[in-house]
Amino acid sequence: MNSVGIIGAGQMGAGIAQVSAAAGYRVFLADVSLEVAEKAKADIGKRLSRLVEKEKMEAKAAETALGRIEPVGSFEPMASAGLIIEAATEREEVKRTIFAEVGKVLGHKAVLASNTSSIPITRLAQASPDPERFIGVHFFNPVPVMDLIEVIKGLATSTETVETVRGYGKALGKQMVFANDAPGFIVNRILLPMLNEACFALGEGVASIEDIDTACRLGLNHPMGPLTLADFIGLDTCLEITRVLHETTGDPKYRPAPLLVKYVEAGWYGRKSGRGFYDYSGDTPKPTR
Ligand code: 3HC
Repeated sequence: MNSVGIIGAGQMGAGIAQVSAAAGYRVFLADVSLEVAEKAKADIGKRLSRLVEKEKMEAKAAETALGRIEPVGSFEPMASAGLIIEAATEREEVKRTIFAEVGKVLGHKAVLASNTSSIPITRLAQASPDPERFIGVHFFNPVPVMDLIEVIKGLATSTETVETVRGYGKALGKQMVFANDAPGFIVNRILLPMLNEACFALGEGVASIEDIDTACRLGLNHPMGPLTLADFIGLDTCLEITRVLHETTGDPKYRPAPLLVKYVEAGWYGRKSGRGFYDYSGDTPKPTR
């Protein structure tokens, strides 16, 4: 397999494009328009330049990696890709539309994968041309820094499909874990209840934003406190995943914290909107309550 198609050039898609190109794959990068994909490539170029400045990458290697990324305005060029990864918005109807469209050009042996953080793979596979060649490949943010890929097998996913993804993940130098298609898979099943619980704790006045974060950072040796991490992931995304856990299991232990719901209703999504549990308008994030 020499080339990879990536659909969605946001934070995750661009990160996946960067690490794929650095690993030697030719990358076709698509988004809602060619302009958006081109802008994403320019941003990847800046990130690669920073790696060169920090002497983490040779200038020549960075230039070659960037040269391997081809922004595309349609899915047609992806017909030659051995693997196509969808990393679009976490909305099922958006993903289904993409699978139907890209399915028209998907090669006969190519694998179609989704970077979904919580939508069931078996269900998504129904919108793909061949559920045996459909799989979940869940990357973590920031993709170039995080060593893990969670691979999720749908009910119909074939062994060959798993092996294709295993080879790709190995080429990227990532550690892989394999999960069955259960709500939240492994990481989000465990992470989101923790982040949600931090929102309950804040809402119930257990401690301040800063103290909840400091407690987990220093008491658990986590790189970020749960409220900082929730802001980093996006509170809308956290709520979305928590709702999937709640709805698909019917278990009340996953019910979203009222404060998390309120913040999302207020449009306070975290870093990406400039305000969540912290205010990001200044040089350093400041707690908002
Ligand atoms: N993109 C690329 N690289 C980045 C980056 C980004 N957005 N943010 C930070 N980095 C790099 C820096 O360049 C630096 O690289 P270097 O060591 O080679 O110089 C390295 O990461 C460390 O960065 P900093 O020194 O600036 O900051 P920290 O030491 O505080 O680390 C962090 C930042 C790596 C983000 C760290 O805080 C961390 O690991 N946080 C937890 C992240 C996490 O849990 N991610 C998973 C979220 S869950 C998910 O993605 C699943 C989804 O489905 C919800």
